[in-house]
Amino acid sequence: MNQSPDQGTRPQIIVLDTGGQYCHLITRKIRELGVYSEIRPSETPASELAGVLGIVISGGPASVYESGSPQVDPAIFDLPCAVLGICYGQQLIAWHLGGTVSPGKKGEYGMAHLDLESSAALFQGATGRQQVWMSHRDTVTAAPAGFDVYGATETCAIASMGSAARRIYGVQFHPEVVHTERGRQILSNFLFGVCGCETDWSPREQTSRIEEEIRQRVGDRNVFFFVSGGVDSTVAFTLCLRALGPERVRALYVDTGLMRDSETPFVQGVFESLGKGIFAVEYAEERFVGALAGVREPEKKRHIIGEKFVEVQEQILASGQFLEGNWILGQGTIYPDTIESGGTAKADLIKTHHNRVSGIQKLLAEGRIVEPLHLLYKDEVREVGRELNLPEELLSRHPFPGPGLAIRCLCEDEVRPVEPLDAGWLAPLHSVGVQGDSRTYRPVLLLEESPASPGVHLKATEMINRLAGINRVAAVTGTHTPVAELKTSAAYITTERLDRLRAADSIVRSLCLSSGFEHKVWQFPVIIVPLGAGDRPDSIVLRPIDSVDGMTAQSVAMPQALLDEMTSALLALPGICTVLYDLTHKPPGTIEWE
Ligand code: XMP
Repeated sequence: MNQSPDQGTRPQIIVLDTGGQYCHLITRKIRELGVYSEIRPSETPASELAGVLGIVISGGPASVYESGSPQVDPAIFDLPCAVLGICYGQQLIAWHLGGTVSPGKKGEYGMAHLDLESSAALFQGATGRQQVWMSHRDTVTAAPAGFDVYGATETCAIASMGSAARRIYGVQFHPEVVHTERGRQILSNFLFGVCGCETDWSPREQTSRIEEEIRQRVGDRNVFFFVSGGVDSTVAFTLCLRALGPERVRALYVDTGLMRDSETPFVQGVFESLGKGIFAVEYAEERFVGALAGVREPEKKRHIIGEKFVEVQEQILASGQFLEGNWILGQGTIYPDTIESGGTAKADLIKTHHNRVSGIQKLLAEGRIVEPLHLLYKDEVREVGRELNLPEELLSRHPFPGPGLAIRCLCEDEVRPVEPLDAGWLAPLHSVGVQGDSRTYRPVLLLEESPASPGVHLKATEMINRLAGINRVAAVTGTHTPVAELKTSAAYITTERLDRLRAADSIVRSLCLSSGFEHKVWQFPVIIVPLGAGDRPDSIVLRPIDSVDGMTAQSVAMPQALLDEMTSALLALPGICTVLYDLTHKPPGTIEWE
């Protein structure tokens, strides 16, 4: 991003990224404890780390003894700072300092019981038998000379080790994961007891520093944003507006026609309350919805939407309307999406393509991009938004996917009836799931029982494990036609179906808001599926879930009275035949149906 961190944010702790999914989680947890921390590639030379108070080596999927696996500069162990190795990080410490690492006989994944005895500062108030989260196959089988072994689980004899004299510690378990009972205490001990950090970080206190950084980077130029109506681009824009004034910032919002009901007026309202004449809408519904005609395959739909975004953005950039002369581009890119932070390759692919189309790459190379949130995590962006007095309705919104309602509008090519099974009905509606490490695209099992009945989620999981051909189970909460008579139809993305989905989504959202259920769930996708009968060809799926980060999710039960009210309101909509309730956790289902 060519935006070096401002001197006001010198990290006390550096997390070395060894390629795992956990390094952002570690950094976030450290910042939550009030200590500013950043990520660097694992091979960063020790000379570049001089001055930090502590180094954390993260977990990662590789094996230390394989060639090409992520390494650290061994000189970091001679720096005057403390070191904590987590999982693969502990194995790297052992490997470099003369211990032994071996492939485990069987892996250890999930919850485990740790017995921990130690008087080391790292474990003050955190000793004894406790629950920890494990995710590893390799283990340290001999600690380096001079190291003590502090703890073991049933399958892992060296679950923690360290040298208090050298202030180098390792843990095989993950203190950054919520399932590790005393993880927060251990991280806090590392920061304040071992490293001697002081609290220096509160996102709400960052606004004036960020505004100063914007003024320095932008100079006498002006800033133009493509905004999505999401939290990140709105907060980034508002910071620029405050830093530069209303004459020097403009926002453009692309209405793809794939938005929820009233979304465009909502976004318009938010921006108009920020200032007059700073916001414009590019209406592009025909281009997006037109390009999706007759397309069933989820991946193809995503691809088409990605291409259209690129096309529209590049046209606007090429028109010279904003970027001639003195304009540069502002973006709401956040820390996990920056290349410097080692954001995972996959996450980059999904999330950064809009931020990294070729026209934008060119601007990046020319230093004509400003990304005010490039050091912040999502929750921190929300905090900054609160400091800026942005409406809570915007800041606490559920996440909404970039491709919009297109991935909540299920398509099928064929007319096919549901089939009876001894446990329920097999509906030939294909949705995306994730089993093992692979993506699935399979039919759904329908059950005619209440989604609130005891054990129903457990039963759903058992059914998916037992019936190899399905990846989802949904309960029927109300129908105009007996389930036995339902059929799929050949249906694609059309304005008519999108309008039907918007009407359903809007009913669900207003009932959720008025009942308070909105804030009891992490996300609540509403999906339209081509299953019905006669003049009611579609059905609606309710998918309330709980999650921390969207990587895994649990289907959540809803109060019966609310469900009954929602079901009857949805069945009153024209074209809607049945209401379904998705009982599937992720994995094996995904959150979206696609
Ligand atoms: P899945 O369906 O994979 O979704 O379980 C996980 C989370 O990611 C969101 N999602 C997206 N967000 N662009 C986004 O910004 C996308 O292309 C995208 N696809 C899925 C989804 O809503 C859920 O919160």
